[in-house]
Amino acid sequence: MTTVLLEARGLVRSYGAVAALRGVNLAIAEGEIVAVTGPSGCGKSTLLHCLSGILRPDAGEVVYRGRRIDNLSEAERSRLRRTELGVLFQFGQLVSELSAAENVALPLLLARTSRRRARTAALSWLERLGVAEVADALPGEMSGGQRQRTALARALVTEPRVLFADEPTGALDTLAGEQMLGQLVRLATQQRTTVVLVTHDPKVAGYAHREITLRDGQIDPTGLGLAGAGLAMVDTEGVG
Ligand SMILES: Nc1ncnc2c1ncn2[C@@H]1O[C@H](COP(=O)(O)OP(=O)(O)OP(=O)(O)O)[C@@H](O)[C@H]1O
Ligand SMILES: [Mg+2]
Repeated sequence: MTTVLLEARGLVRSYGAVAALRGVNLAIAEGEIVAVTGPSGCGKSTLLHCLSGILRPDAGEVVYRGRRIDNLSEAERSRLRRTELGVLFQFGQLVSELSAAENVALPLLLARTSRRRARTAALSWLERLGVAEVADALPGEMSGGQRQRTALARALVTEPRVLFADEPTGALDTLAGEQMLGQLVRLATQQRTTVVLVTHDPKVAGYAHREITLRDGQIDPTGLGLAGAGLAMVDTEGVG
């Protein structure tokens, strides 16, 4: 059985005169890995930001676990992002003055976990992502791939139900990008984390269970996205 975890209903969002989303409806099942693709400027990041509560839509609803979240206060939406919704940005956005371990521990400290437990959890996530060796390094002393894995560890350390990732491999070369995605998909599958992944890259989209293509702020009803172009799927368990 499939349970709908996250839904967009008639989402509309503009920036001044620019209509970024023009009525987006979608339903994402618990444990599903969905790729959102489409040309630059079609509204992918705007959709991700609306779904994760970073931005409020002008009209329409975002429903998470049966409850509207788009109309929650800023504070309630941030709390949700600290606890249940993890966000991973294109360039990782680590705090440059903090070590890798401190960066990963940060969301736990914000959620009032003790320092000792936060540090232990951070080290264990860095280990799982294969970057234990940079635990005490600052972001400026790390490679792009190490930074990106650290950012992924930070997004996963709170064990979110949903991970939103906007071009998570954008700053990496092909091999490093594929390794990171492989890990992301493996960890998500193990923990039954739902993933919404924005990408331009057909190979990246091929890692998802399903692809949603946006064009001009609307879902392309033909569903002929990037991964439809004959690219192999990664071997993951079916959803539902
Ligand atoms: N802060 C902003 N102010 C004004 N216009 C914006 C802003 N953010 C996005 N837009 C516009 O809204 C539209 C959708 O932008 P969005 O960033 O969602 O696209 P995208 O699909 O993520 O593009 P890309 O693949 O280049 O990241 C574009 O026309 C963009 O120029
Ligand atoms: Mg974008």
